[in-house]
Amino acid sequence: KILQPTTIIIFGATGDLAKRKLFPAFYNLYIDGRMPKGFNIIALGRAENTDENFRNYIKENLEDFSRKKVTSEDWAGFQAHITYFRHQLDQENSYQDLHQKLKDLDAVYGMRANRLFYLSIGPNFITTISNHIKNTALASDPQKDRIIIEKPFGHNKQSAIELNSLLAETFEEEQIYRIDHYLGKETVQNILAFRFGNSIFEPLWDHKYIESVQITVAEEVGVETRGSFYEQTGALKDMIQNHLLQILCMVAMEPPASVESGEIRDRKVDVLKSIRRIPADQVDHYAVRGQYGKGVINGAEAKGYRQEDGIAPDSNTETFVAAKFYLDNERWQNVPFYVRTGKKMKEKHSYITIQFKPLPHSTFSDTSQLLSANRLIINIQPMMDIRLQFMTKKPGLSLALQPVEMIFDYFACKEDTPEAYETLLLDALLGDLTLFMRSDQVEEAWDVVKTIQESWENNKETSFPNYEAGSWGPKDSFALVERQGHSWV
Ligand code: BG6
Repeated sequence: KILQPTTIIIFGATGDLAKRKLFPAFYNLYIDGRMPKGFNIIALGRAENTDENFRNYIKENLEDFSRKKVTSEDWAGFQAHITYFRHQLDQENSYQDLHQKLKDLDAVYGMRANRLFYLSIGPNFITTISNHIKNTALASDPQKDRIIIEKPFGHNKQSAIELNSLLAETFEEEQIYRIDHYLGKETVQNILAFRFGNSIFEPLWDHKYIESVQITVAEEVGVETRGSFYEQTGALKDMIQNHLLQILCMVAMEPPASVESGEIRDRKVDVLKSIRRIPADQVDHYAVRGQYGKGVINGAEAKGYRQEDGIAPDSNTETFVAAKFYLDNERWQNVPFYVRTGKKMKEKHSYITIQFKPLPHSTFSDTSQLLSANRLIINIQPMMDIRLQFMTKKPGLSLALQPVEMIFDYFACKEDTPEAYETLLLDALLGDLTLFMRSDQVEEAWDVVKTIQESWENNKETSFPNYEAGSWGPKDSFALVERQGHSWV
């Protein structure tokens, strides 16, 4: 795939995501020589502003958020590609003016450039924008025009179906790039390389050798400035339905025939379809919710969720979820997949644990030789490594055993690690859909969490807050795995 001249149109260019992630990602791609030869970024905002003012604002933020240094030479080159455009989301003539602007740019490129619409705005505006784009024929070329949207993709299965069919009125499925930024993370993409680029792990990758799989995405941060959004969302919809289920798909999918995007996305949908739906009357057995109260993180006092800005003092929104899923397919019969995520936990740590089964028989009959079953840990962030834990002989005269780790560390490679958004934006510019969510993936993922969602909406939790900020979550989360003789690792 090759880069074509592209005009990038950012809706919500004055917002948080644009300043923290989008502009830094475009800037870093630019420095790396990864932007198309001809490109322009049109930053849409409601207020009156000048190009110069807006560019200065972006520059200041780049200094805080860019991975690469902002030198005056690089900046001078990059800033010339940014234009500010005053735009009213709900006014058709504003889209007509935008259309004229795009045509003027095409005249400068000397060709009809690709158009990449980035909707960095709240989900409530998607309908309005998509309709206006349709009415003004802004995205008239299905081969050249693309739209990127951010989660949440609906708030349940039904609304996701409606959103997908609304988008389908303006865009073909191949033009729609639904971002799940976890899929852009190096360590998450590496799961594919690790699983399908080696011959020694795949034969062990099933119910015969694997006892359980755990996926943890623990955050140290709370809801920060997003209180009112989070109140309506909660951890199940914010994290489990998307990021954690996507990681689960990477771990559990069958080998795709190739890395072609359709192949990989098909294999992921297979996984989602195979996840056993939790019966409505057994939700409590399979899923646990939590909300943080006051506590201590890194020696500093931390507020409880209900004391945060924009949160109701009697809020019932969950900030923690742990759940157990089974996959009804041949490979994963009876292997529990435990997932958990929470805010204000003891530390920021996202990782996957593949717990292998214990040996059927121990050659080392001496009971002092406690054998640990093999374990593979894939650290996603902030550590970025893969650890294989196994037993070796302790150096010395007697035959004593000890557990050790073999580690592959990403940082040791000294390669510049791109940010997830750099990877994803480059793929969108290139027209590679592999790391983006297809409509059926989104709908299936909502279906997986449907009974949990409905049960929790209908039965408000009465024991919140039930874990302290700075802990590893509520007691019930431990009970969920211990019931089966397992423990969170
Ligand atoms: C977002 C969620 O999708 O992912 C946030 O809305 C969460 O609540 C964030 O904090 C976590 O992303 P990362 O990359 O910091 O792990």
